[in-house]
Amino acid sequence: MSDARTMFVGSGKGGTGKTTTAQNLASAFVAAGYRVLGVDGDGQASWSHLNGLFPRQGRPNIYSALKQLIEQYETKVGIYHLPSGLDFIPSSSGLHKIVSDLASVERSEYLLQQLLTPLKGRYDLIIIDCPPALNAWTNNIFMACDDGIITIQLEPLGIASAGETLEYLQGLRKRGLFMHHDLKLSGGLITMMDSRTAIHRNLAEVAQEQLGQHMSIFSTRIERTIQFPEAQYFGLPIDLYNKDSKGTAAYAALAEEVLAGTSLRSVSGLQVPARFADSLLQAASSIEEQAGENGTEVTWEEIDVVI
Ligand SMILES: Nc1ncnc2c1ncn2[C@@H]1O[C@H](COP(=O)(O)OP(=O)(O)OP(=O)(O)O)[C@@H](O)[C@H]1O
Ligand SMILES: [Mg+2]
Repeated sequence: MSDARTMFVGSGKGGTGKTTTAQNLASAFVAAGYRVLGVDGDGQASWSHLNGLFPRQGRPNIYSALKQLIEQYETKVGIYHLPSGLDFIPSSSGLHKIVSDLASVERSEYLLQQLLTPLKGRYDLIIIDCPPALNAWTNNIFMACDDGIITIQLEPLGIASAGETLEYLQGLRKRGLFMHHDLKLSGGLITMMDSRTAIHRNLAEVAQEQLGQHMSIFSTRIERTIQFPEAQYFGLPIDLYNKDSKGTAAYAALAEEVLAGTSLRSVSGLQVPARFADSLLQAASSIEEQAGENGTEVTWEEIDVVI
C-alpha cells in the first residue's frame, strides 16, 4: 500500500479561507472514495470546532501527542473517526505553545513528520490546516508534507501575503531545509471571490499574472457565498449541507485538479524576486506609500526606551 499524499493548506495571513478549504477539500476527497485524514494544525482549533471536537481535559489532540513525543521519544496519537467518514486529529489551544517547545528540540523541523509517518499507510490523503503564520511550527508542517495549497484572498494584503509565503519558502530552501525533502506547491487557490465585482476581477488578474509566474493558480476559484458560513454553523462541509450547491461543485472541481497533479511545482525551482510581496502590494493597491514634503520619505524619530 502506498503512503498517503500529505498536503498543507496555508498562508501567512489570517482569514484567507484555509480552514474552509481544508474542511471542504477533505470532504470532497471522502466523497470521491478516498481514505482521508484531516489534521488541525492551528491552535485556534477552528477545524476541530467545526467537527464538534471541543478541546476537553484528557481528550488526546495533536499538541498532547507532540508534547509527549518531545519528552519521551514515543507517543500515542488520537485519531477520531467522524460520522462523515473523515478521520481527524484535533488541535487545542496548547498548540500555541509549540513554537517555544520546538526551540529546545534538536532537528525540531522533523517532529510532525515523525508523528505522521506511521499513519501514512492507512490513508490516501492527509490534509493539514495551517495557522495564519510562518514560523518554526509551519516549517514542521512543510517538512511533513509532499505538497500544499496557498489560499489567496482578493485583497491587496491577501495577494501580498501569498507572495510573502513564496518568499518565505524560498528563504527556507536557501537555508537548506528542503535539501533532502522535495516540497511541492500544488497551487494558489483564489478564495472568497465575488466575480460580480470589478475589483475582485481585477485583483484575480493581478494574482494570476504576478503570482502565476511562480506557482500554478488553480483554474477553480472559490466564490464567496453565505452557504459556507451557513454550513459551518451546522458543523457541516458544504457537500453534506447542500450537495447541489456551487460551493460543492467548486470543491469537487478543486479535488480533481489537485489529484490530476498537473499543477505541481517544486519549491526547489522557486525564483521569486527580492521584495516580491512589496511589489505585489503596490500592484494590487492604489494606496501610495506615505511621503513627506517634496516627495521625500516621511519623517520619523526614534525615542530611547530603557527598562
Ligand atoms: N467562499 C467563502 N464564502 C463565504 N465565506 C467564506 C468562504 N470561505 C470562508 N468563508 C468564511 O470566512 C471566514 C474565514 O474563513 P476561514 O476560517 O476558512 O479562514 P482561515 O484562513 O482558516 O482563517 P484563520 O487564518 O483565522 O485560520 C469564516 O467565517 C468562513 O466561514
Ligand atoms: Mg483557519
